[in-house]
Amino acid sequence: MVETALLATAYLLAGVLFILSLRGLSNQETARQGNVYGIIGMLIAIAAVVIGAKHLDYVSVVGAVLIAVVIGGTMAARVAMTAMPEMVALLHSFVGAAAVLVGVAYFVNEGDAIYGNTILLTEIYIDVFIGSITFTGSVVAFLKLKGSISFLKWKWWISGKPLLLPGRHALNIAMCLACVVMYGMTVAGTGTADGGGLMMLLITAVISGVLGIHLVVAIGGADMPVVVSMLNSYSGWTAAAAGFMLSNDLLIITGALVGSSGAILSYIMCVAMARSIWNVIFGGFGAAPPKGAKKPQADTSGLSVIETDFSEVAGWLTNSKHVVITPGYGMAVARAAGAVYEVTQLLRKKGIKVEFAIHPVAGRLPGHMNVLLAEANVPYDIVLEMDEINDDLPKVDTVLVIGANDIVNPGAETDTDSPIYGMPVIQVWNAGQVVMLKRSRAVGYAGVDNPLFYKENTAMFFGDAKDSMDAVYAELKKAAAA
Ligand code: TAP
Repeated sequence: MVETALLATAYLLAGVLFILSLRGLSNQETARQGNVYGIIGMLIAIAAVVIGAKHLDYVSVVGAVLIAVVIGGTMAARVAMTAMPEMVALLHSFVGAAAVLVGVAYFVNEGDAIYGNTILLTEIYIDVFIGSITFTGSVVAFLKLKGSISFLKWKWWISGKPLLLPGRHALNIAMCLACVVMYGMTVAGTGTADGGGLMMLLITAVISGVLGIHLVVAIGGADMPVVVSMLNSYSGWTAAAAGFMLSNDLLIITGALVGSSGAILSYIMCVAMARSIWNVIFGGFGAAPPKGAKKPQADTSGLSVIETDFSEVAGWLTNSKHVVITPGYGMAVARAAGAVYEVTQLLRKKGIKVEFAIHPVAGRLPGHMNVLLAEANVPYDIVLEMDEINDDLPKVDTVLVIGANDIVNPGAETDTDSPIYGMPVIQVWNAGQVVMLKRSRAVGYAGVDNPLFYKENTAMFFGDAKDSMDAVYAELKKAAAA
């Protein structure tokens, strides 16, 4: 009795800590605190499960946890920021695999008693169905993001291109229906104690595994971050189903939190990229341009741009009262965040207001820019969301666009022929002077030309973003010393 009450209290405490963790992670100022809450919650949850379990082999449990801590800790310490999506995909595949194994083990463990218990059978089938999709889908996402796998002297390349089989939606529906038939037959009692029911569950695991592969191979490699976020959501729902199956309240709460937050993040990413969430769920995401795109865009090869250099940019910055910096993927590639911070510090010391404008899908993973800026010690209170800055941009003197392209493309608002038409963007062109730091006139991720390059108040500062920012910093220092 006392044990049950203690277990319930521990689960409640862990559940509250997970909610506080998510709340903390939603804001960069409280993100570290959120991580701490999550870690404490997880420790309480593991301790409660281990202590509360009867007939447990403690040596195996401690051994497994130690091995996992060493492997997980080493992987997390070594992973590059740009490889984070593939690591997350791999971790989701473990959740999916665990859900399938637990579901099948539970089915076997229950023996004949399982037939007739429709609710339990439903929970097991949902757990195995979503778990298997999550497992294989996440493995495919991992491989597509990685691009290749090596074993000893062999190396295999994995194409990032979407594989769109004819009649793919019909195929998906057929696979779902086949799983429903397996479930129906098991519930109706066609499966018997001689293993028929288990066979149907295993067939369901295989079919849903093929479905997971098929759903994700239909999506282009570059769109995998959105898919990974969706698979994160699936891993939550499969954990919640496992929670119902095992009558574990904490697993239900945690699964629902992961499932819903992953779904919300995927939706936010889709809106920010003007894509359909249904294409992520049913496959084909990124294979076709979004609504509104009619024909290829106008040829801009004959247009000329205004070029600038570090000393002119330093002059514009020094004469500004308000500067906004808009970073993008190129800042990550150039590892320029530190140099950007140094320039920011110098300008702030001169009494110039400096703010950062962050687009929801700047870079290649959610919160990419926020993490880089936080690592470079940029104060949180000057890092603003797109919606917080857009109305102020007409009053801004100078905008530095550092390695960003699509997220500042005015064509997304005006050009119905553009493939990114409808994507909300940071309206930097409304500022007094725009400086674009990039190496060439090359397109960004979406592969579309950017009319911003050719505007009268835009100057192109060609070069590697870090070299360019270092040169601006040296010039500002020189001017300050003179
Ligand atoms: P992009 O549009 O991809 O533009 C990045 C620009 O950086 C390129 O045009 C490139 O031009 C420049 N660049 C690359 N290396 C550089 C270097 N060393 N120094 C200076 N510039 C460099 O990036 P964005 O504006 O951040 O937009 C993000 C895009 O990714 C969006 O289309 C978004 O939909 C997509 N996406 C985002 C996510 C998430 S969750 N963030 C996930 C999937 C897809 P040069 O080659 O001329 O230098």
